[in-house]
Amino acid sequence: MNFDTRHDRSPSFAYKWEKYKGKDIIPCWIADTEFRCAQPIIDVLKERSEHGLFGYTLPKHHEPAISAIVQWCKKRYDWAVHPSWIVWTPGVVPAFNMASRAFCGEGEGIIVQTPNYPPLLAAPAINKREQLCVPTVLENGRWTLDLNVLEEHAAKPSSKLFIMCNPMNPSGSVMTKDELDKVADICNRHGVTICSDEIHCDLILDDLTHIPASKHEALSQNSITLMAASKTFNIAGLGTSFAIIPDVKTRQQFVSAGAGIVPWVTVMGLSATEAAFTRCDDWYLAQRKYLRDNRDYLLREINQINGLRAYSPQATFLMWVDASGLGVEDTQQWCEQRGVGPSPGRDFGAPDFFRVNFGCAKSYLEEIVTRLSVP
Ligand SMILES: Cc1ncc(COP(=O)(O)O)c(C=O)c1O
Repeated sequence: MNFDTRHDRSPSFAYKWEKYKGKDIIPCWIADTEFRCAQPIIDVLKERSEHGLFGYTLPKHHEPAISAIVQWCKKRYDWAVHPSWIVWTPGVVPAFNMASRAFCGEGEGIIVQTPNYPPLLAAPAINKREQLCVPTVLENGRWTLDLNVLEEHAAKPSSKLFIMCNPMNPSGSVMTKDELDKVADICNRHGVTICSDEIHCDLILDDLTHIPASKHEALSQNSITLMAASKTFNIAGLGTSFAIIPDVKTRQQFVSAGAGIVPWVTVMGLSATEAAFTRCDDWYLAQRKYLRDNRDYLLREINQINGLRAYSPQATFLMWVDASGLGVEDTQQWCEQRGVGPSPGRDFGAPDFFRVNFGCAKSYLEEIVTRLSVP
């Protein structure tokens, strides 16, 4: 459990590092962390591979993984999830694309927040649906949804689905109960289903409670909630996530949209998820503390660099940096010329910004700060 260690990720062809291979650029872009998994996850994967048989496993038969999700949701969110509500998906991206087809017809509207995770912004066009954007606004140093624009878009008869992202990527805001109440009210009045991408919800860094959309009384029949152990426990390469859908008709619609196209999750992913949610609490809490310290350090330093401005993300290991004060044409190029490789803001719909992944050893962050400080 040493988060300070730097690991050579080249044996896994880690995408984050492959992008800048052979260049003196510290990668801090794609959203996985530089942390080695908790030992119980490594142990279960070793055990499972020693077994030596890797044939078909129907996810609904993997009772330990299902009850691990049920326990986790109860413990973390005081949410009593019935096992039948769980639908395994080989990633959250396929899940919100399935939702796009399940709850919205061709040519009808999908509401998305901007800026946002690029594959989420891409979902409406990929599925031949119309994209309706709701901007994120800054209120008292915290990014939040513009509810007036949400109301306007939701009121259009062709709007059928809102793919929400909570906690928000890239801003790291966690929706309050009041905000969720308002979103629920707007979407319910206009018959808009909510698909809530909550992949980052277990990484709350402040003293806050995350409320899963489908736990909300007003949304339990009109929403699906997407979660995974992947970000929190650094197992995204195992391609395993799940949707929680309390309403049977909504669940059937979602499942039908992926039938014959979306594969089952893998046996390794099921075992890793089970271990993550049941035997890794110490690692989980220690990582959260490490990330909190990293966030506070990075925020302080970034805000001392001329032309850069950031606000404290309440969750995740991602910091959204406003670089408009630099007055440069290409902020990504400005970073890369200094030897830092964040996620380009333009991919999220905000070219004057960049996103730094601080899920890494603090020594990397110190180097990143030093490099970005070069005038
Ligand atoms: C908001 C959000 N949703 C989904 C994903 C990816 O999900 P998956 O790898 O399970 O498809 C990411 C990864 O960065 C993300 O930030």
